[in-house]
Amino acid sequence: MGIKLEKVTKIYSTGEVETVALKNVDLEINDGEVIVLLGPSGSGKSTMLNVCSGLDNPSSGTITIDNEVISGMNSRQLTKFRRDNLGFIFQQYNLLQTLSVKENVEVGREVSLDPFTVEEIIEKVGLTPNMKKYPYQLSGGEQQRVSIARAVVKKPKIMFCDEPTGALDEENAKEILGVLQDLNETYNTTVVLITHNPSIGVIADRIVKLNNGEVVEIIINENKKRASEIIWG
Ligand SMILES: Nc1ncnc2c1ncn2[C@@H]1O[C@H](COP(=O)(O)OP(=O)(O)OP(=O)(O)O)[C@@H](O)[C@H]1O
Ligand SMILES: [Mg+2]
Repeated sequence: MGIKLEKVTKIYSTGEVETVALKNVDLEINDGEVIVLLGPSGSGKSTMLNVCSGLDNPSSGTITIDNEVISGMNSRQLTKFRRDNLGFIFQQYNLLQTLSVKENVEVGREVSLDPFTVEEIIEKVGLTPNMKKYPYQLSGGEQQRVSIARAVVKKPKIMFCDEPTGALDEENAKEILGVLQDLNETYNTTVVLITHNPSIGVIADRIVKLNNGEVVEIIINENKKRASEIIWG
């Protein structure tokens, strides 16, 4: 699925302070594209991901996903749209601590229309031997793989990823990025990935740079690399 932002502005008001987190952003993300979003802290990356995915409303402007204007939906419609089409991973793994790996992934599968099997997706992220473990018995990289499996088991059309490798070492980070790359290549899943690490840009089709709530540069990457080939910066 593609995403289109037209004149999207987001203003946060807290007491007397107004923060313009996004200013009149126009951007089109194509179906099946891998987009890496770069920019300094506070530049509006998470805000952009949140409004693109319907987790938050823009203050003005239009967001269209695959011909559906999501910025016009009510919260019930949005919840259904997200559940049917979108997957999320964040820097914090947000796993349910009292559930095993397998049960955490089952939670992601429950509500979906045409899911993978739990076993098949756990295999894909390399966690078959850890299926019965609980989150506290796993390394950070393994926990992030569970959170990917939980997001992906329902075959999302778009994966939104907010610094998914922020807490991981190089080796684990590349594995996580490899899983996203496989998904993109096998199922044409659109991937929108926020990172602080510019070297991750080599896996993108396009790198979008944000500064002060504005898109300041879009770089087309002609020479896409495997996640395993990233030279870690
Ligand atoms: N809920 C909120 N209420 C008020 N201001 C907010 C809120 N969320 C974000 N902001 C402000 O909006 C601006 C953009 O924040 P955002 O979280 O999008 O930045 P970011 O690029 O994701 O930064 P980081 O790399 O540190 O995660 C910042 O100035 C931030 O303080
Ligand atoms: Mg952020």
